Amino acid sequence: MTALVEQVTAVQAAGLAPRPPPGRYAPPRRGIDPDASKKWWQRMLPVVLSHKRIVFTGLACSLATLLLQLAIPRLTRLAIDNALAPALAQRSGIDLPGASEAQPLTRYIWILAAVAVIRFGIGFVYRYNLQRTSFNIEYDLRNLIYEKFSVLSFGYFDRMQSGQLISRANSDIRSVQMFLSFAPTVVISMITFVCAFGLMASVHLPLAIVAVICLPGVYITGTRMRQKMFPVSWIVSSRQADVATIVEENITGTRVVKSFAAEESQINLLSKAAERLRWAGKLQVDIRARYSPFLQNLPRIGLALVLLYGGKLVIDGEVTLGTIIEFNAYVVLLQMPFMMLGFLMMMGQRAAASASRIFEIIDEAPEIVDRPGATDLLHPDGDVLFDDVTFRYGTGPAVLDHFTLHMNPGETVALVGRTGTGKSTAARLIPRFYDVTEGSVRIDGIDVRDLTLESLRAHIGLVLDEPFLFSETIRANIAYGKPDATDEEILDVARAAGVSEFVDKLPDGYDTAVGERGYTLSGGQRQRIAIARTLLVNPRILILDDATSAIDVQVEHEIHGALTTLMQGRTTLIIAHRLSTISLAQRVCLLENGLITADGSHAELMATVPAYSEVLARAEEEWQEAHAPKPDPQAELPPRARAMRRMASAKAEGGPGGMPGMPGLPGAGGGA
Ligand SMILES: Nc1ncnc2c1ncn2[C@@H]1O[C@H](COP(=O)(O)OP(=O)(O)OP(=O)(O)O)[C@@H](O)[C@H]1O
Ligand SMILES: [Mg+2]
Repeated sequence: MTALVEQVTAVQAAGLAPRPPPGRYAPPRRGIDPDASKKWWQRMLPVVLSHKRIVFTGLACSLATLLLQLAIPRLTRLAIDNALAPALAQRSGIDLPGASEAQPLTRYIWILAAVAVIRFGIGFVYRYNLQRTSFNIEYDLRNLIYEKFSVLSFGYFDRMQSGQLISRANSDIRSVQMFLSFAPTVVISMITFVCAFGLMASVHLPLAIVAVICLPGVYITGTRMRQKMFPVSWIVSSRQADVATIVEENITGTRVVKSFAAEESQINLLSKAAERLRWAGKLQVDIRARYSPFLQNLPRIGLALVLLYGGKLVIDGEVTLGTIIEFNAYVVLLQMPFMMLGFLMMMGQRAAASASRIFEIIDEAPEIVDRPGATDLLHPDGDVLFDDVTFRYGTGPAVLDHFTLHMNPGETVALVGRTGTGKSTAARLIPRFYDVTEGSVRIDGIDVRDLTLESLRAHIGLVLDEPFLFSETIRANIAYGKPDATDEEILDVARAAGVSEFVDKLPDGYDTAVGERGYTLSGGQRQRIAIARTLLVNPRILILDDATSAIDVQVEHEIHGALTTLMQGRTTLIIAHRLSTISLAQRVCLLENGLITADGSHAELMATVPAYSEVLARAEEEWQEAHAPKPDPQAELPPRARAMRRMASAKAEGGPGGMPGMPGLPGAGGGA
């Protein structure tokens, strides 16, 4: 996860972060309430209320729809009692007690038809507005989270799994959105319940009580179900995230998986996670299967009771026939809000859990932000100073320990050291991907923490060993840091970086799509595009972190010209293991045990510092071994992996400082 963020930020660091075309992106009008002591829905309220107009229109219309719905059973009763029953009695010559003259049935039919038409219209407005609200909320939440991701520091992405983050940005938002769009309807249904009960009670209170007597049972069963369901749904969503993480890693890391022939173990890993998800899913289904029949059938008992007791009342002449029909219709109408109430509570629990996971992201304070009063870095000379810097990742050991390094404007310095000594770490401190633990990093004498991040990163270009390209065209990738670049500018940098050499041979030229992460191109081609992309934003300070390690000597030779062009007139920090790359620098510094132990020209260091030649020899040896075909199964591994394995086994064997014995210095001085 961090690697990807670093790549993207590295590109953004090379220029002002790309902005979507103005006017296209409508940022959320209101954020989430920052007061963490409030209930989750209170914290969401500002986001919901930022869409007041549609929210309240929707609510008002849904209330009107439900009230109209209440009128239907009453109208039906009146039609039966005032039109049908008297007409029937007249025809049969029966004298109904208290019956008046039969009214025309058509009058009621017309009224019912009018109610239906009005309900249709208002119902449309209410659904349309409430649905729109819920999609607006979803849109806002997603943007709020993404905005947060974009300001969170590397330390955060080091700790978090991408699958977890993706699941928060998808399913958690969905469950909050579903709840928020569903809740108002249920609340309004409860109002309907009160009104309906009032209407029934006004006719016959005992029968009204009998009609609703089973509904609390629906509620209690619903509550039980949700109590059982809540922990299970939490488990389900976290296991979904686990599966997502594995799938995501397998897709992005598919080359690694295949190169280690690890498909089977990966499938096993996935099937284990999927099995755990299935187990939790089954539990969920079990609970639902046990409680749902009760939820659905309890209201039917209510119907039977109305028929039983109401029937007796009709026979005794206490209520009219129409009353039973009216009450029956109300029971059917009312079971819904009660069933939904249970469901709503369940969804509420789930939404609360989802919201708390979303808030975890929203409440995360970015570690690296602009200080109050931070100034913009304008037209820097490019003087870079690491002043007595100590740095540790979190609470880990000090990676840099009183590290001091000064780079003059326009100077090219190579930083050399064994793997894992902290070269990349030092480079990450210049654009403030991390902040120093002690000491300071200064540009033109100004502490980087006193500069605005945007202006600081705008002057720093970073080219990494495995450049990350976006699955877009070559042109878009080159223009990533400067989306408004003209074709001429793009062609200029493409020529300088040696991109035009191979792009001109492609049928679609600069409009060729590069495939995900640029994997349809060779390492050297990707690297040249990365160089062009950095050239385009013209940074004052340039960092090449192992920019040549992934490519072979021949290709490296080809891009040397591009690199030399890139370095001209900039302060450049080259991190390299290979002599040919180091030879691009005027000065070489050796990093050991967290600080610079030697500083001078390559020739001086070769002559006077044995540790320096050892580091180079080791790198060379590793490279040679990695590229010589051997029957060794490890030969399948990429050079870096091989080196790491060897280091690890040397450590395990207790080799001196993790280094195996030094052979001669094959080819170490070759290019001196
Ligand atoms: N994000 C991180 N969180 C915690 N520790 C880290 C992190 N990145 C690097 N480290 C640790 O810091 C140390 C220095 O790592 P760094 O990547 O700077 O080494 P390097 O000199 O660039 O090595 P290489 O030549 O292999 O690229 C290592 O011990 C590494 O394990
Ligand atoms: Mg490194």
